[in-house]
Amino acid sequence: MSDSNLSIVILAAGKGTRMRSALPKVLQPLAAKPLLGHVLDAASRLGAHETCVVYGHGGELVQSAFTSTALNWALQEPQLGTGHAVQQAMPMVSADSIVVVLYGDVPLVLPESIRRMADATEGSKLVLMTVDAVNPSGYGRIVRNAAGEVQSIVEEKDASDEQRKITEVNTGLMACPASLMGPWLDALKADNAQAEYYLTDVVAAAVADGVVVDAVKALSETEVMGINDKAQLAQAERALQHRLVNELMLAGATVADPARVDIRGTVTVGQDVFVDVNVVFTGDVVLGDKVILGPNVSITDSRVGACTHIHANSVLEDASVGANASIGPFARLRPNANILDGARVGNFVEIKNTTLGVGSKANHLTYLGDAEIGQNVNIGCGTITCNYDGANKHKTIIGDNAFIGSGVELVAPVTVGEGATIGAGSTIGGSAPAGKLTLERAKPRAIDGWQRPIKKP
Ligand code: UD1
Ligand code: CA
Repeated sequence: MSDSNLSIVILAAGKGTRMRSALPKVLQPLAAKPLLGHVLDAASRLGAHETCVVYGHGGELVQSAFTSTALNWALQEPQLGTGHAVQQAMPMVSADSIVVVLYGDVPLVLPESIRRMADATEGSKLVLMTVDAVNPSGYGRIVRNAAGEVQSIVEEKDASDEQRKITEVNTGLMACPASLMGPWLDALKADNAQAEYYLTDVVAAAVADGVVVDAVKALSETEVMGINDKAQLAQAERALQHRLVNELMLAGATVADPARVDIRGTVTVGQDVFVDVNVVFTGDVVLGDKVILGPNVSITDSRVGACTHIHANSVLEDASVGANASIGPFARLRPNANILDGARVGNFVEIKNTTLGVGSKANHLTYLGDAEIGQNVNIGCGTITCNYDGANKHKTIIGDNAFIGSGVELVAPVTVGEGATIGAGSTIGGSAPAGKLTLERAKPRAIDGWQRPIKKP
């Protein structure tokens, strides 16, 4: 069976009432990505040649969250059960394909498991994914005959006391040739406790037709957990984080405590990266060899070069930091902060849309916005680029080897020449010449006879 004949149908029409949320269930975020996004990722990793999402509740919102033109959408309205849901997708399923049913609210399923299930059809069987549940209540039970062959799935609400003791349960995921699935769905009846068209009834139909029914086991209950409420969402988040942090460690990162790192995107690491506790990664993060991330670092869509140390409590967003640099503690790098090799950014420094050149330093209490700063520049404590005049942003350009004293206000547009020195406390606009000291400072004056105010009685 080739990859190209897989046709994936994802059921996502359920209301998800138990989420108690304005957001449709399948859009609830897991590691910052909608539940349905995880299922779609698994589908795309399988290289299925077509994927159809059955939607209903919150339809437009769900569709607009996924813009891939390769996706097909089938509206299920009203929602008359899982069998009825798959039926809505069948017009978009190629007749000669293997149809694979996934659930939009079962996001942790691994592509390898779906692959095992699809392969087990051998082009002609019906294959279910099942799991041995510690607590099977609420699930459909897998009924086997004395020879161990699957005979039917009985929903909890329709099951006898004897059947309820069965611990092998239906995950809901299944695969079979589309040519068989179509007629079975058309023949479904809603004569059950919930008056719904159960997808699970295709099992009995297959047995009646002499089609072999097989089951493959999921790797764990967690892999196939369905998410119905915020408590289960949090449980799935922990399980996914466990998986992602494990991958990070297998990629070579040393993690101080795997339970205290969150990955909401992808992290690419070189050798011997160290990640301290409470680090949160978001989006695409790339870390070079021997990068050290201190405790409580939040890093989003950023790159950090080899041997750079990001100290505790620093926040990086859409930033780029070179090699051998030092950032923080308590530094904030905002979009387009470009910190070059060997530069140092200290505590309470905010940098936005600015290049800080090789070996330059801004060690304390500074705001640098819309600036181009050369090499080996020293930015004194409390320096501020006044880049915004209330209407427009202006640039600050500082040449190599300049020394900006403490408490300087650089009123942009302003250019500071190479090797210039700006005296502490100056407010400088326009330009300051290269190699000279420029300062702006009122003469101190002492007021004779002045007295401190005293508190009124
Ligand atoms: C279903 C299975 C049950 C299995 C369980 C695993 C049936 C009849 N039962 O039960 O054997 O153990 O899943 O979690 O299939 N959906 C639609 N349209 C509908 C109804 C549901 O799209 O009309 C979607 C839901 O959004 C959800 C999935 O199908 O993604 C499962 O629906 P749900 O109502 O949760 O099924 P269960 O009753 O839990
Ligand atoms: Ca369910």
